[in-house]
Amino acid sequence: MTDATARLDPHYEIADIDRRLFGGFVEHLGRHIYDGIFEPGHPSADADGFRTDVIELVKELGVSTIRYPGGNFVSGYRWEDGVGPVAERPRRLDLAWHSTETNEVGLHEFQTWLDRVGSELMLAVNLGTRGTQEALDLLEYANADTQTAWTDQRAENGRDTPFGVKMWCLGNEMDGPWQVGHLNAEDYGKLASRTAKAMRMIDPGVELVACGSSGRGMPTFGSWERTVLEHTFDDVEFISCHSYYQEHDGNAQEFLASGVDMARFIESVAAIADTVAATKKSDKRIMISFDEWNVWYLHNADGSESGHEFKGGAWPVAPRLLEDKYHALDAVVFGDLMITLLQHADRVRSASLAQLVNVIAPIMTEPGGPAWRQTTFFPFSITSRLAHGRAVRVPVSASTFTSEKLGEVETVNAVATIDDEGVSLFVVNRSTTDAANLRVDLAPLVRALGREVAVVESHLLHEDDLYAANTLEDRERVGVREAEASVDGELLSLALPAVSWTAIRLA
Ligand code: AHR
Repeated sequence: MTDATARLDPHYEIADIDRRLFGGFVEHLGRHIYDGIFEPGHPSADADGFRTDVIELVKELGVSTIRYPGGNFVSGYRWEDGVGPVAERPRRLDLAWHSTETNEVGLHEFQTWLDRVGSELMLAVNLGTRGTQEALDLLEYANADTQTAWTDQRAENGRDTPFGVKMWCLGNEMDGPWQVGHLNAEDYGKLASRTAKAMRMIDPGVELVACGSSGRGMPTFGSWERTVLEHTFDDVEFISCHSYYQEHDGNAQEFLASGVDMARFIESVAAIADTVAATKKSDKRIMISFDEWNVWYLHNADGSESGHEFKGGAWPVAPRLLEDKYHALDAVVFGDLMITLLQHADRVRSASLAQLVNVIAPIMTEPGGPAWRQTTFFPFSITSRLAHGRAVRVPVSASTFTSEKLGEVETVNAVATIDDEGVSLFVVNRSTTDAANLRVDLAPLVRALGREVAVVESHLLHEDDLYAANTLEDRERVGVREAEASVDGELLSLALPAVSWTAIRLA
């Protein structure tokens, strides 16, 4: 057992929280759409074939924007295949995941589903096999409010009014050699810039995201951002970050430092964006869209990539791909990643959990069977529900451990949010060995509020068995329970078991 102290001072404000920080991501990949959100014939399916049990879980998760339709998939996608009468839509090879795309679900169906879950559409355009013209066609189809051939077609397909899509990704992971149509930074920067300029001529209100690196470990990381932003600085609002974390070689302690890696990634990208701003004598601040983040067991023990079994396979429809089973340890790391995003709310104005259903997802389904919450569901749904208003830095003094990759790392990490009704505190104990007694000094908060506060809600995610998970057979094995938390005057005491994530609501 170790002691840790922290201070909750509302003056340590980071920024107002953009709700888009709690976004998700739905790709045409594996059983995400087909046999995931869309399963006509399932006992819970509505008249459009959408599983209502999944809709309820997505609502409970509390996802703001949803990025669609990829991911790697978008780099070979013809969006026109997904509109018009379903019976006439072509089946196509999806090169990214070596699957067959039936196109039963496209833009209109996905928007219908989004209306049911209450989330907002964020679109990615194909800059892999396609280019500026096709991006313009899609934008005109989706957002134009004037009668044109494209908007006539939209109306014929059942939608008179524009979709009004605000956020657009200019391609996906164009730095990755695996990407269909992969480009170097110079060529991508030029393409993204001219596509962005033309898109704004149709709709000046769009917010555009240039592709950043698909990971901090990419050989081109850093120089990619600099070159891309040199070309697109005046044309975009955002640059993207993508990052996936996993436990390697059974080293849970190292895995628990993942939040620090994410923080350094964000801070490096912000520094590069500001360097480009300085060279351009500009005060503009490019924001970060962390539009793919999660725990993902991408690498097998032998170093090979998982999820690529279908490369060279038989082009199946909706194969079981990337169906990671998340355990308690994953959920603690995941909760820490959410804390890290909030700690950078001044720069990360949008983020998308990758992904939502069946594919590296917080929600799992069985065809004809149940839907259930994975362990990672809990930190997301609770943070999304409790983190409102503004994010506030919570300096912590705690023991440290040495990460092989990142050096000295604090065992306890925390952030708070303050809104009109109360205060939320999110804390992780990253130590694999020591529980911690955290004492939080609330004096500055009590002074600012002019009254004392009390714990009105608390949630602890911790399992003695770090590898406990929710499965089809045992769907409620892991959940959250009440945390040991109490307020005495101006002091909040919290018991943090080793490898745990805690959320507290004070009012
Ligand atoms: O989320 C799975 C894949 O990870 C996405 O398709 C791609 O963008 C990333 O490499």
